[in-house]
Amino acid sequence: MARNVVVTGGGTGIGYEVARRFAEAGERVVIVGRRRAVLERAAADLGPNVTPLVCDLADPDAVEDALNALPAEIDVLVNNAGSRETVIGAGPHAVLARWRGDFERNVLTVVLLTESLRDRLTQGSGRVVTVSSIAALRGAGSYGAAKASLHAWNHFLAAQLGASGITANIVAPGTVSGTEFFGPRLDEAEVSRRAARTLLGRIGESGEVAAAVYFLASAEAGFITGEILHCNGGELLGR
Ligand SMILES: NC(=O)c1ccc[n+]([C@@H]2O[C@H](COP(=O)([O-])OP(=O)(O)OC[C@H]3O[C@@H](n4cnc5c(N)ncnc54)[C@H](OP(=O)(O)O)[C@@H]3O)[C@@H](O)[C@H]2O)c1
Repeated sequence: MARNVVVTGGGTGIGYEVARRFAEAGERVVIVGRRRAVLERAAADLGPNVTPLVCDLADPDAVEDALNALPAEIDVLVNNAGSRETVIGAGPHAVLARWRGDFERNVLTVVLLTESLRDRLTQGSGRVVTVSSIAALRGAGSYGAAKASLHAWNHFLAAQLGASGITANIVAPGTVSGTEFFGPRLDEAEVSRRAARTLLGRIGESGEVAAAVYFLASAEAGFITGEILHCNGGELLGR
């Protein structure tokens, strides 16, 4: 039977590839993001199984509205939306803006929706998969700290949902191509620099992260919970 799947940030990059996998498997997918045109284009590309839903996931009012548009039962929730705050500077106001921004973009976008949907997750087989980053373990200032806090929260979530047969896991990617995440910063020189930090000598592709998410959302992954699946070409271990 087709599952109800919600993919945040499903209009671009990793989230788009995640949505594509589920849609191709015949699941019903809602993709969530802030830009209507981006979501509508993605849904048109991905076919009739995919529905766009506009929502700023860091805004509690917007999340409350979105709840009315989401299915009453959710089999898979993929918390993929996230981005990096760009404010720079060392003064307290800049530091506050950067830290607050990274926590809003990467933590609130995950917890506001997940906590609100908790009672709609399918008993016995529900799946929550959250995308963090290698930055959570290798340090990247406020962005890494925000992603690391998802790891602690995921353990708490897995403990709470476990008795209901629902799993909660993290996928932590290294650098991947085919997304809007870095913008023009990921030029040829930066790709080479990042590729050299991995054991495979290359950066990853969005579809490779999507495959890890898809596995953790599968029935076969039912005995895996509270885990962090690293998907970084060996960068975490280093040379
Ligand atoms: N690319 C990498 O190398 C890399 C590495 C490690 C981890 N990650 C993580 O992977 C995840 C996906 O990123 P990506 O690389 O695929 O980049 P991306 O193409 O920029 O995708 C991020 C998506 O999240 C959505 N989004 C951002 N903020 C949102 C909000 N407040 N409410 C709703 N939707 C929001 C964006 O759509 P709108 O702008 O339309 O809202 C966009 O579709 C992120 O959590 C990122 O931190 C990426």
